[in-house]
Amino acid sequence: MSFNVSNVFKVFLMVAGCSLSLVSAEQQKDVKLFFQRTCAACHGVDGSGRGLNGQKLPGRVLSDSRWQGTKKDADLVKSILKGKGGMPAFQSQLSEMEAESLVAEIIRPLAARKK
Ligand code: HEC
Repeated sequence: MSFNVSNVFKVFLMVAGCSLSLVSAEQQKDVKLFFQRTCAACHGVDGSGRGLNGQKLPGRVLSDSRWQGTKKDADLVKSILKGKGGMPAFQSQLSEMEAESLVAEIIRPLAARKK
């Protein structure tokens, strides 16, 4: 069997193309799903700091609009990526862009619910 360099290169391009599309799928992480799977365990699905049975969870209340008003997006993004107090850092699981989306698309809208 003889290797045809150009075919080997084509296979390489196909593989590289696949992994590139995987990377871009990864960039569009569903932040809502991520919040429900990872953050809600401590903050509650609705950010109330309470679980489905109303039990108190370890995370702070995120839906408190008065508290939110004291925080800049950049503060929240930093806490999510670097961790804060009892909250672990998420920089190994989230890009800065994803943390910003979590703040803008999930955490900010939670405040509108007034708890
Ligand atoms: C292990 C429990 C736990 C998990 C999981 C967790 N948090 Fe927290 N989170 C906390 C605690 C505790 C605090 C309060 C930290 C403090 O002020 O000392 C907090 C605080 C915060 C704050 C406020 C930070 C600030 O600057 O005051 C935000 C925003 C936040 N969490 C978002 C998230 C997001 C988004 C996720 C998922 C990626 C998440 N948390 C996952 C426990 C958790």
